[in-house]
Amino acid sequence: MSERISTIRVQWIHTLQAFLITLSALAPQTYAGTTPAYATHGMVVSQSGYASQAGVKILQEGGTAVDAAVTTAFVLAVTHPSAGNIGGGGFLIYRPSTGSPVAYDFREKAPAAAHEKMWLDKNGKYDKQKHHYSHLAVGVPGTVAGLHLAWKQNGKLPWARLVQPAIDLARDGFPVSHGLARDLQSRLKRFQPYAATMAQFTNAGKPYQPGESLKQTDLAATLTRIAESGPAGFYQGKTAELIVAEMAANGGIITRDDLANYSAVQRKPIIGSYRGYDIISMPPPSSGGVTLVQMLNILEGYDLRQSQFGSAETMHLMAESMRRAYRNRALHLGDPEANPEMPIARLTSQGYALELRESIVSEKATPSSLKGFEWPHESDETTHLSVVDAERNAVSLTYTLENSYGSGIVVTGAGFLLNNEMGDFNPAPGLTTEAGLIGTHPNLTQPGKRMLSSMTPTIVAKDGKLVMATGSPGGRTIINTVLQTIVNVVDHRMNAQEAVDAGRFHHQWFPDRIQYEGQRFSPDTLQLLKGYKHTLREIDRQGSAHIIVVDRERNVLEGGVDHRRPDTAAVGY
Ligand code: DON
Repeated sequence: MSERISTIRVQWIHTLQAFLITLSALAPQTYAGTTPAYATHGMVVSQSGYASQAGVKILQEGGTAVDAAVTTAFVLAVTHPSAGNIGGGGFLIYRPSTGSPVAYDFREKAPAAAHEKMWLDKNGKYDKQKHHYSHLAVGVPGTVAGLHLAWKQNGKLPWARLVQPAIDLARDGFPVSHGLARDLQSRLKRFQPYAATMAQFTNAGKPYQPGESLKQTDLAATLTRIAESGPAGFYQGKTAELIVAEMAANGGIITRDDLANYSAVQRKPIIGSYRGYDIISMPPPSSGGVTLVQMLNILEGYDLRQSQFGSAETMHLMAESMRRAYRNRALHLGDPEANPEMPIARLTSQGYALELRESIVSEKATPSSLKGFEWPHESDETTHLSVVDAERNAVSLTYTLENSYGSGIVVTGAGFLLNNEMGDFNPAPGLTTEAGLIGTHPNLTQPGKRMLSSMTPTIVAKDGKLVMATGSPGGRTIINTVLQTIVNVVDHRMNAQEAVDAGRFHHQWFPDRIQYEGQRFSPDTLQLLKGYKHTLREIDRQGSAHIIVVDRERNVLEGGVDHRRPDTAAVGY
């Protein structure tokens, strides 16, 4: 592991040396280690060094945080294909240094022919394969529309300039890192049924070796159409034709109209308050903001600084907050257009937090109460990026294909992967089983509906000034990872890197257990938690947070990159 990271570091040092030569005054630097990355003017933190670097170049050319986020996201679609995407969807929170914050929703939508029983076979039995791994599992993609909408409202540089770095990398290729080579190799079996996927992600049928160049010429052509025509280069014309042909030939249901009718939406963020800090996060169709604010509201009643990071008391109180907020997530949240009655104001109110807090017993786990009720599988491949520019405008963006490499289906002739986001809808009405299915109404499949998400891009501010941009992949664990980065900074006063490195844990109501990162918590703490009657489960790792924290005393940006996954980079200038 450490050998791999140092190889990556060396790789990046070489790339950066080349980059530094091209810049005279404001030279970017890449950082790694337990101290955070520092930057004076602007910074981009993402899962790919190419992406962070391209984003910072945009900042240096006078682009806004949104401009840089757009470039970073397009480059991720080339260099981090497991989650970076143009065939998926996501969410973006933008907080300008003056004015109101805004949320952009570019979550995928169900095609018009979708319906709530489409995941049942002719005998009425739930068909998991169809729901998660088929052309039917593909939602109408939102990324291109969402990035364009955010840019139209907040960008400064020309759109085509922002897409160009991704085109160059797709057309000319880039050396495959050790991490990417290993990842691609591990997915070979999933790629095998799809000729276009095999052509794109193998070297003539053989796994790519580290250092070999990955060229994606069809993707470069699609990105060029997007650069030239904006969303029309994706949702209409040749790209749309290729998507529709891919669907028609393989039992998919996305039509030309579904694509033409897709639009991204600007929404009002969920705004909470935690110990005097403003919490600005994503509203439904993400469950992230509502759930995060509920947990922080509960935790505000306890002195976590005093009970300290990693103590049994702190972990117990946090796990109990998670349990309660995740229960409400399951019961109440879904697409806002399809569920106009969601009790969001109540769920995020202080009064309700007080009620929930009163039900928490010290040193004693509250058993989760719905018998036999478990969560369905949710994948953990998504990616997050944070950007802050010289004016302290900030972007927090999380987007996904759902599973790693989404559906595994590359659109023939168009060179990009399609999501399998329809799997985030509940399987069927009333189908809540001990095997782990949820059939609650708010998140059932309906035409044109957006599926519930856990993605939680979040920005924290205080007294009108930016404090932090945070977010992470990790399926349902995302909300808890984001919670912990915030508590680590606000309560435990960690710097950005410490806040990312610190051990993570997760409770989601059902299954009724705390899962925690092994080797990162003291055995004494774990023993105490068992004594409180918590069930514990050790896991390897949780999430991959990319955060930026403003050190307000020195007016310096701190970047925290997550070394739980390879190839990450904070680049600042
Ligand atoms: O939207 C969601 O919540 C899921 N589709 C996200 C999947 C995910 O985070 C995978 N991440 N690593």
